[in-house]
Amino acid sequence: ALTATLVAGSLSTTVQAEVDEDTSLWSWEQADKIERTKDNTAPQISEEEIQDIAPDLYVWDTWPLRNRDGSVARVNGYKVIFSLTAEKEGVTPSERHGIAKIRYFYSKDGKSWELGGLAYDPEEALGSRQWAGSAMMDDGKVNLFYTATGRKSNETKTYEQRLARVTADIEADKDGVELTSNGDHEILLEADGEHYQTLEQSEGKGIIYSFRDPWFFQDPKSGEEYLVFEGNSAGTASEQTCQPENIGSKSFQKKHDAPEDAALYNGAVGIAKKGEDLSDWNLQEPILEADCVNQQLERPHFMVKGNQYYLFTITHKFTFAPQVSGPDGLYGFTSKSLHGDYEPLNDSGLVIANPENDPLQAYSWVVLPHGEVSSFVNKYKTEDGEQKFGGTLAPTLKLSVHKDETKIVNESKFPKIK
Ligand code: FRU
Repeated sequence: ALTATLVAGSLSTTVQAEVDEDTSLWSWEQADKIERTKDNTAPQISEEEIQDIAPDLYVWDTWPLRNRDGSVARVNGYKVIFSLTAEKEGVTPSERHGIAKIRYFYSKDGKSWELGGLAYDPEEALGSRQWAGSAMMDDGKVNLFYTATGRKSNETKTYEQRLARVTADIEADKDGVELTSNGDHEILLEADGEHYQTLEQSEGKGIIYSFRDPWFFQDPKSGEEYLVFEGNSAGTASEQTCQPENIGSKSFQKKHDAPEDAALYNGAVGIAKKGEDLSDWNLQEPILEADCVNQQLERPHFMVKGNQYYLFTITHKFTFAPQVSGPDGLYGFTSKSLHGDYEPLNDSGLVIANPENDPLQAYSWVVLPHGEVSSFVNKYKTEDGEQKFGGTLAPTLKLSVHKDETKIVNESKFPKIK
């Protein structure tokens, strides 16, 4: 917000005008500092640590049921998590994205998880498959925000993505937790071409198009509510160019020229503000853009500590622009105000990296309110050096966050949600 001083005659009044601050940028110069260190490199996951929570299913992106204020919810003593899942039979790990459905698990101790079932009736759900989102308890009801990917009516698989919501009743007793979805799935937001690139504007040029992963967030400072999500910067792909500010400081610009292809990398963290109710959302300018640096800022989410906002997002090595290199990892940015200016944590943005000798072992890290970081086991190396798809929750990491620096301080032996 900008502070403006109005002078009317001899009266001088100070008013707070709400102005969207500029979108923050993750520049090449900042990302050029990415480096694995002992503070950001996760320990290697050993095979005996991997507990398969649903042997017949691939389980990947996961999020806990939270209260409106972001704390992890307890329903009659249970914690609930939601995961993207796919039946393994006849399906390769990479095919799983094409048939993803959201299921839920519950636990009393936050360590051992029981499969509850599908979170909704897939016939009623929007999209030909459902991708990541978030879940929030409001007035005894579960609000599930998710990505409706493709359309059931399309014969071929398309990559259109829309942000959707469905509610569900939840019952928990000594026998477990049961979710009954109310069936009325609704689309909340679509890319508008002005704030966020549409699939059409992307012209099939980027590595993968995105408008997905809605994450509900109540701003503790203002009480206002938002959805943050993954998008691409608006505009027609073939017309997008690298701007000096995407490169970095004047002195960095002098020595560095971005390759032409870099302009096709336009990952963004999107944000929409709640209007009247949980069905009404208004797109705002992106919080962060990684133009010419990275194509995908996935599953963005916030943690707030003291006066600081911490914005976390995940990305892959293969989605960095050709002139930048960074590992599959969790990246983060911090600011004193919600809309920015965001500065990368640890100078470069890198918060958690997979170890160098097991670079794809985990993915989809999510930072929970106390600094626990949950993720799933991706393509890990077995003791014989063979690469295997884990497809279940990974052991939880603990992150210490202090001002603009972070450090991995602990690894629990379990996929623990505190
Ligand atoms: C991250 C992700 C999400 C998406 C899902 C699709 O792992 O790419 O952005 O919702 O996986 O499976």
